[in-house]
Amino acid sequence: MQPTRTVEVDAPSGRSRIELGCGLRRHVGARMAAAGVAASPAARVALVRDAGVPASMVADVRDGIGAPVVDIAVAGGEEAKSLETLGAVAARMLDGGIDRGGAVVALGGGVVGDLAGFAASSYMRGIPCIQVPTTLLAMVDASVGGKSAVNLLRGDGTIAKNMLGTIVQPPLVVCDPECLATLAPRELRSGLAECIKHAVIADEAMLGWIEAHADAIRAVDPATMLELVDRNVRLKAAVVAGDERDDGRRAALNLGHTFAHAVESSMHAACTHGEAVAIGLVAASRLAGALGAAGSAGLEARVRSVLGSVGLPVVLPVPRPAADLRAAMGSDKKRRGGVLRLVVPFAAGDVRTGIAAPDEAVDAAWRAVGAG
Ligand SMILES: NC(=O)c1ccc[n+]([C@@H]2O[C@H](COP(=O)([O-])OP(=O)(O)OC[C@H]3O[C@@H](n4cnc5c(N)ncnc54)[C@H](O)[C@@H]3O)[C@@H](O)[C@H]2O)c1
Repeated sequence: MQPTRTVEVDAPSGRSRIELGCGLRRHVGARMAAAGVAASPAARVALVRDAGVPASMVADVRDGIGAPVVDIAVAGGEEAKSLETLGAVAARMLDGGIDRGGAVVALGGGVVGDLAGFAASSYMRGIPCIQVPTTLLAMVDASVGGKSAVNLLRGDGTIAKNMLGTIVQPPLVVCDPECLATLAPRELRSGLAECIKHAVIADEAMLGWIEAHADAIRAVDPATMLELVDRNVRLKAAVVAGDERDDGRRAALNLGHTFAHAVESSMHAACTHGEAVAIGLVAASRLAGALGAAGSAGLEARVRSVLGSVGLPVVLPVPRPAADLRAAMGSDKKRRGGVLRLVVPFAAGDVRTGIAAPDEAVDAAWRAVGAG
């Protein structure tokens, strides 16, 4: 089977080919052969998969690989991004006879993608990793750009997220929107928050497209999801190609995230990362207004409306004082001269990074999402 759409990522460290198509999960081996990955007849493939991915989807992928498979199931969840799990996966690869002619196929969401990507990029000093993302977030975000990582446990028992990792472009990403049918609605919304963030970075037309297709998106209509993933992958691919190592332009992808991290750290289990990003996008839009951007009221109203149309929140689940939330944003690396530097959407398609945001403007942004 040929992919319906393809997107090429041309980054300094290498190229990545992203292939999209309904049903493409059954043809991973043929797509690998077409890409020249693990092409030797003796090649073995490690299938590193999230144990939460439905069994029929695993069988579809495994049966289509067309080479001896070393099946490695990983219990999902952020805890899987640990050195301990990384070591266990690599040991299973070794025991299973994966050598330098082999490859890893990562089947799952961003957690398994990050873990398997790191395992592949360091195993025997690097073998190819084919990403087969099964969550919307992994399709539109985590599988594009080549970043892999595990978390580190600090001496004081806290977790340092994504502290060890690599940037290596996956030669092939196979995206099958049909995989999204079994995703929990909350996981789907998590990916949608990133899609709406991309739309604000792109332009008004992409925001309008999501709003116009909100019903089909909520129903996980495969053709609509294919179009959604395609549009988002193209946007992220273009940003990554211009700034693979996150020194400049890629920072725009952090839109809403400094607000979101403060929400997550202040109210823990009360909302998911995606829900926190949604709230962060509204706050960032209000921040643009507080900084005097013309037309920002219109953008904020658009962002609220699009988020609402797919069931994402636009206010804090638990009200907190604005000053407390501002303090939770203020890690040293985001402050210069005592002032926060943030990503600000001056308009859809005009997102600027490193903008100085005085405390009063940041507090006004927090009040827009229900802070006291
Ligand atoms: N590398 C990057 O550039 C990058 C970018 C963004 C996020 N990330 C990372 O991605 C991770 C989050 O990824 P995520 O949101 O995909 O979460 P996840 O990988 O934890 O998956 C979410 C849940 O969905 C389940 N699942 C996966 N596919 C399914 C399917 N098709 N049907 C039913 N259930 C399914 C999983 O078992 C899991 O419980 C974080 O660790 C984050 O740091 C990485």
